[in-house]
Amino acid sequence: MAHVVIIGSGIAGLFAAARLADAGHRVTVATKQRTKDSSTNWAQGGIAAILDKTDTGEIEAHIQDTLRCGDGQCDEAVVRSIIHEAGDRIRDLMALGVQFHREADGSFAMAQEGGHSAKRILHAKDATGREIERALSAYAEGHERIELRPNTLAIDLIQRVHGDPSRGIAGVWCLDQLSDEVVTLEADAVILATGGVGRLWKQTTNPSVATGDGLAMAYRTGACVDNLAFIQFHPTSLWSTVERPFLISEALRGVGAVLLDDEGMERWNAARRQATNAGEVPPTPHAYSFTLNHSEAGSMATRDIVARAIDEQLKTSGQSHVHLVTSHLEDASLSEHFPTIARRLNEDGLTLGVDPIPVVPAAHYMVGGVRVDAIGRAYQRGNDEVMPHLFAIGEVACTGMHGANRLASNSLLEAVVYAHRVAQHLIDHPPEPYTGTHPGWRADGLDVLREHAPIVHDRASLVTTMSQEVGIVRSNQRLRRAKRRLALLNEEIDRLWKGSLPSRDLVELRNLALIGHLVVDDALSQTANHGLHYNIDLLKDDRPE
Ligand code: FAD
Ligand code: SIN
Repeated sequence: MAHVVIIGSGIAGLFAAARLADAGHRVTVATKQRTKDSSTNWAQGGIAAILDKTDTGEIEAHIQDTLRCGDGQCDEAVVRSIIHEAGDRIRDLMALGVQFHREADGSFAMAQEGGHSAKRILHAKDATGREIERALSAYAEGHERIELRPNTLAIDLIQRVHGDPSRGIAGVWCLDQLSDEVVTLEADAVILATGGVGRLWKQTTNPSVATGDGLAMAYRTGACVDNLAFIQFHPTSLWSTVERPFLISEALRGVGAVLLDDEGMERWNAARRQATNAGEVPPTPHAYSFTLNHSEAGSMATRDIVARAIDEQLKTSGQSHVHLVTSHLEDASLSEHFPTIARRLNEDGLTLGVDPIPVVPAAHYMVGGVRVDAIGRAYQRGNDEVMPHLFAIGEVACTGMHGANRLASNSLLEAVVYAHRVAQHLIDHPPEPYTGTHPGWRADGLDVLREHAPIVHDRASLVTTMSQEVGIVRSNQRLRRAKRRLALLNEEIDRLWKGSLPSRDLVELRNLALIGHLVVDDALSQTANHGLHYNIDLLKDDRPE
């Protein structure tokens, strides 16, 4: 039986581990912090899926919503196959112990989010990710063929023949953060399940582990990365939570919460007073939302549209945030349905269903990633060949499902479908065991970095550049400025890297700077605005050089 190393312990990594181990393979899951530290653990809204495979009308509607949201850039065959497979994978998740919320009559409680034309999102109230992570990590911990290695930071992939991507991968060099030593994890196949890169931006919903490590490792090994310009900004993260990112789920807008700016708030309040004085029913806030200037779906338009609407509003008004209002919702059980959000708001002295929630957009999801085929095999850069023994699943991968913009709650779905496919492929075609030698880590004889200051400073300036110049609305001038700054930073970081033993800070900085550079290059190469890529100069038909 093969030995498979999986890097990452979110939904993608843990699901693949369970499948492979059940089929008799030996699996090592290397993960950067604790097992549960992942974006998966923070997912709120849920997982979009039609459970009944015979309900072709509902399945087709989910497909059409996904294609519309992707703004003409999705791979339709991929979308169709994932959405058709959704019901089976949800049943797999439940068999592994995941419990989705049910109504009193036993049916699944389905939620709705922006861009969805129907209620089709399974959830565990507003802590869906926590429930998935709980069940999958408990399954992995109890499995005799799965070795979980927390505090194990993957640094780089080991090639079977150095410098030759066509010969494939033989393992991973990792930093054991308890001993501070570089260890070699030998593998017959490696699955990257390292998640996203939200930490490139100041305001993000992503946890601290989301630094694009897998993407950077794959790129350095010659893998093809694609669509990195498409960074999804979630419209509603709790304002002023840079240190402790917190998402206000779109599912809240799904039950009727509305986005208002200061002026809309004043107008709505005035209309309510007037109606109350006249003994009439007070109006709902919907008609007062600035989002209606951008889409007739208002606060429930797709994320690219809503985030851009907020961005414009903040820039023109000088306000620091907009308001998500819920006080008109008669649903007395709002706090019962969104207990995590209610608790977090209480910490700030706010009450869900009463106080306006201050929100701003935040970097949320990397649509692009390692380009993979229909079973999750990574492509080499520059040709149409896959890289032997290397797979990518979950947010680190680019399957073609999301096009230029991901539909809400399609990420967990894509992750579980591709985790299943990669595992099935490895079960059906066990990789040839690698019997060659593994080269030693290159740092022998190097000094440990003695001064920490440059790393902290470089990371701050990288994040500032990305936040100021590569945000929701872009321009040629800003992108070119970012490119120049990132070139200098990458040069500096490369020098640091070559002269130091690795630390977590340095590994992450090196990866973030590389991905920042690739994001900017991909943004500059776009010739039209689609979905999440919005360059004001392309509106003027002025293509970036
Ligand atoms: P992750 O869950 O991010 O796991 C990545 C793993 O890789 C982590 O264990 C991490 O520690 C590890 N790792 C990273 N680098 C290294 C390294 N160098 N060495 C070792 N380990 C490493 N999507 C939905 O579909 N529905 C939702 O409701 C939803 N809500 C969300 C809410 C929030 C706040 C966030 C941040 C995202 C949300 N998303 C949602 C997106 C979705 O959660 C993620 O895209 C998905 O969980 C990614 O799963 P993953 O397994 O690919 O990666
Ligand atoms: C949310 O709950 O708003 C996040 C859903 C997602 O990112 O898909």
